[in-house]
Amino acid sequence: MNSNPFSDTTIRKIERFQWWHQRRTKLIFIILIILTILIISLSLILKFVILKPSKSKITTTTTTTTTTTTTTTTSYQQYVWRDTGNLVNARYRHAASVLNDGRVLITGGLGSTYQLRTAELYDPSAGNWTLTGNMNIEREFHTSSTLTNGKVLVVGGEASRGYQNTAELYDPSTGVWTVTDSLEYARSEHAATVLLDGKILITGGYNGRDYLDSAELFDISTETWRNTTSMNSGREHHTASLLQDGRVLVVGGSDSRTAELYDPLTEAWKYTGNMTIGRQSHTATVLANGKVLVVGGSHDPTSRAELYDPTTETWTVINGPKDIRFDHTASVLTNGQVLIAGGYAVDDLITTELYDPSTGNWIITGNMSHTRTDHIAATLLNGNVLVAGGYDRGAKNTAELYEPL
Ligand SMILES: *[C@@H]1O[C@H](CO)[C@@H](O)[C@H](O)[C@H]1NC(C)=O
Ligand SMILES: *[C@@H]1O[C@H](CO)[C@@H](O)[C@H](O)[C@H]1NC(C)=O
Ligand SMILES: *[C@@H]1O[C@H](CO)[C@@H](O)[C@H](O)[C@H]1NC(C)=O
Ligand SMILES: *[C@@H]1O[C@H](CO)[C@@H](O)[C@H](O)[C@H]1NC(C)=O
Repeated sequence: MNSNPFSDTTIRKIERFQWWHQRRTKLIFIILIILTILIISLSLILKFVILKPSKSKITTTTTTTTTTTTTTTTSYQQYVWRDTGNLVNARYRHAASVLNDGRVLITGGLGSTYQLRTAELYDPSAGNWTLTGNMNIEREFHTSSTLTNGKVLVVGGEASRGYQNTAELYDPSTGVWTVTDSLEYARSEHAATVLLDGKILITGGYNGRDYLDSAELFDISTETWRNTTSMNSGREHHTASLLQDGRVLVVGGSDSRTAELYDPLTEAWKYTGNMTIGRQSHTATVLANGKVLVVGGSHDPTSRAELYDPTTETWTVINGPKDIRFDHTASVLTNGQVLIAGGYAVDDLITTELYDPSTGNWIITGNMSHTRTDHIAATLLNGNVLVAGGYDRGAKNTAELYEPL
């Protein structure tokens, strides 16, 4: 007979918990728990605060505009910008060209008070900048184009002595600038396009008096300029994009909402459809599908963007980036997305956004470390995007890299 009121198994269960009632074990247990909590918090702090540049976080929110019944999806990608070496000279309104060996040449621009003659090279493998030969003439609001022979042509712009019709060639193998044939017309705030046959088309600009409609062609074999047909409208701070079929689409400028197409074979211009608003200091980007994405501009209070289809020669209004901006940059990434960085709206911007052509959506991506407008952006051979200089309460010497995920 068993007089024990508890069954054998119940007693075993009670014994199993007896250790708990000893004070020392209790103390050790509590210390262990506290230690575990500390270790977990430390690793969380390490992961999200200290190591954040190597991490990406993607969240998605959806907003629905009832009036148009279109759905805008905004996702967020963070922590992708990192600082790289500083420029030797702080500058804005400068120009940049990627050389065939992958280095980036930046030229001129406005320093603290006056236009610069200096040029610098960014070496992506070293992540630093070095001065190269000075240009013969200081310039801001000029253009810079990498030619098919590897040299770089800078054209026009504004110097202390006035609007320039001068042009110079840079030889990357010697680091030396040579003055070449002059343009027919002095111009600043014009656009330069490298055509499929290697010629350089210069369009429009400003000479201190007029918005120019004239256009000129540079032949790299003879290193000379000649007139080509003038545009239908005068423009400055417009864009000129080489389409996949070799034609050139000129958009806006001087607050115009018109656009024109140039055919290099006939050298003729024709108006193509109007945008819904006038734009200048906007960006125009040729997408992988051949369409042209036009974003921002100083007369775009709505932040709507427009897409040009060269096959139908028509414009479509699409959702724009979250931030209204002009004097920003736009760069095509290797995955086809378009990176919009900085610029100005009511203040200089630090934000960057991505347009995804496959979905038509905008993605808010990491902020730059520095606010900048009138800066340059260059897509490196490894697909990273370099932004350098710009204005934020003065000329800036900082540079940063965007590394796509
Ligand atoms: C740039 O970096 C390279 C490689 O680290 C170094 O040799 C060179 O001296 C640096 N140049 C400047 C101007 O800092
Ligand atoms: C270029 O065109 C302008 C008028 O638009 C004319 O004055 C000038 O002589 C032309 N230059 C040449 C080289 O044909
Ligand atoms: C395009 O805009 C211009 C300037 O606002 C205007 O004169 C022209 O009639 C417009 N063209 C069309 C086809 O709407
Ligand atoms: C980026 O900067 C803007 C403006 O300063 C700020 O509102 C936003 O929260 C920042 N975004 C991130 C991801 O830090």
